[in-house]
Amino acid sequence: MMKSALFLSALAFFSSTKAYTIPQSKRTIDIVGKSRGSASHYSSSSSSSSSSYSSDYSSITDAEVLNYALTLEHLEVAFYTQGLANFSADAFAAAGFAAAVRANYDEILSHEETHITLLQSVLEEMGADIVQECTYDFSGSVDVASFIAMSAAFETVGASAYSGASELLSDRELLPAASSILSTEARQSTWIQSTVQHLNPWSGAFEVPLTPNQIFTIASNFIVTCPSSNPPIAATHAFPPIGIPTTAAPGASVQLSFDLNETSASDFSELFVAFLTSNGTIFEQFSSSDSYNVTFPTQEEGLLGTVFVLIVNSTTEAVTDATTVAGPTPLMFPFNATDPQIEALFPN
Ligand SMILES: *[C@@H]1O[C@H](CO)[C@@H](O)[C@H](O)[C@H]1NC(C)=O
Ligand SMILES: *[C@@H]1O[C@H](CO)[C@@H](O)[C@H](O)[C@H]1NC(C)=O
Ligand SMILES: *[C@@H]1O[C@H](CO)[C@@H](O)[C@H](O)[C@H]1NC(C)=O
Ligand SMILES: *[C@@H]1O[C@H](CO)[C@@H](O)[C@H](O)[C@H]1NC(C)=O
Ligand SMILES: *[C@@H]1O[C@H](CO)[C@@H](O)[C@H](O)[C@H]1NC(C)=O
Ligand SMILES: *[C@@H]1O[C@H](CO)[C@@H](O)[C@H](O)[C@H]1NC(C)=O
Repeated sequence: MMKSALFLSALAFFSSTKAYTIPQSKRTIDIVGKSRGSASHYSSSSSSSSSSYSSDYSSITDAEVLNYALTLEHLEVAFYTQGLANFSADAFAAAGFAAAVRANYDEILSHEETHITLLQSVLEEMGADIVQECTYDFSGSVDVASFIAMSAAFETVGASAYSGASELLSDRELLPAASSILSTEARQSTWIQSTVQHLNPWSGAFEVPLTPNQIFTIASNFIVTCPSSNPPIAATHAFPPIGIPTTAAPGASVQLSFDLNETSASDFSELFVAFLTSNGTIFEQFSSSDSYNVTFPTQEEGLLGTVFVLIVNSTTEAVTDATTVAGPTPLMFPFNATDPQIEALFPN
């Protein structure tokens, strides 16, 4: 039975069958226990007012959406530029990859650079200020395998970002360009996950669309600082991160760690863990009295492929920024289509 997860960002990449090392980011989350047994309040280091958590993107401009996309493209270009400088053709060969693999990464880098050129030229035409690249921390990329695992995550998260951002554009003429970048990111993620990693090529029938705040929450694990001259992207901020131990697996009892603020005015006594999967959202209740342990859904319940874990305070509506308390943290639960258990889930 497939019981493995590839963890991102501050967490770990591992699987029961593959020896991924653990890319540990500089950012550590160590607050479990801080308010164990007390009311489950929280705060974000980036915000003191709970009202700023309920974001409304109605005022976001097209230039801001394009600068948001450009922020992500800059991150990808920096990642591939560094990774290809770090890992030579010999290193790829020594790690067991055909020469075509590194050559395709060269092409991916060139595609991301072209996306930057396109976004910059559209922003220039609009007369908008243009975000410049930031400084980054890709310290999780320590060898060819972890570089490849991180690239799979960035491409998958990128496809989620473009999927979620499409509704924010007001000029419909921008949609073909945006969706053509989206489909390219998705092709890249498929190539990496299936041809390179021999894992599932997709998560399911749908990409999980994510909001800018959700994406910034994930990206903030890798962005160190951005130039102060960068134009702000209105209404965007990162949520508090969620730490998830490497023992997390479908069906397992898992202790989550996240930032708690006992003096916060908001009442978060009833919390839920939301798992955004390709097949929909799964909610699990959890509480401080259980030390914030949550039972992960099983593979049969939909914990397949890339899943985004959030802490929310409501199950009565779709997960939105307004109900988000912490996260998302992306997790990858690779699956193998010829595994009899997976075949049973997808008859025919
Ligand atoms: C490349 O190597 C440098 C120096 O070891 C390291 O700081 C950086 O995180 C690496 N980046 C990637 C993407 O491998
Ligand atoms: C909570 O989860 C951790 C693993 O993250 C496990 O070791 C511990 O036994 C769990 N506790 C309970 C009460 O289930
Ligand atoms: C905790 O929340 C209170 C009330 O919202 C706020 O004044 C305080 O700064 C927060 N503390 C931390 C450490 O974020
Ligand atoms: C997808 O969700 C539907 C409806 O909740 C459920 O019946 C089905 O079993 C799920 N499929 C998978 C593969 O998780
Ligand atoms: C959920 O949390 C948000 C802050 O993230 C708060 O504004 C909202 O009122 C809360 N909703 C409920 C039902 O507690
Ligand atoms: C997929 O599952 C089948 C059947 O369990 C197994 O023979 C095959 O080796 C697996 N492939 C991978 C890549 O794990």
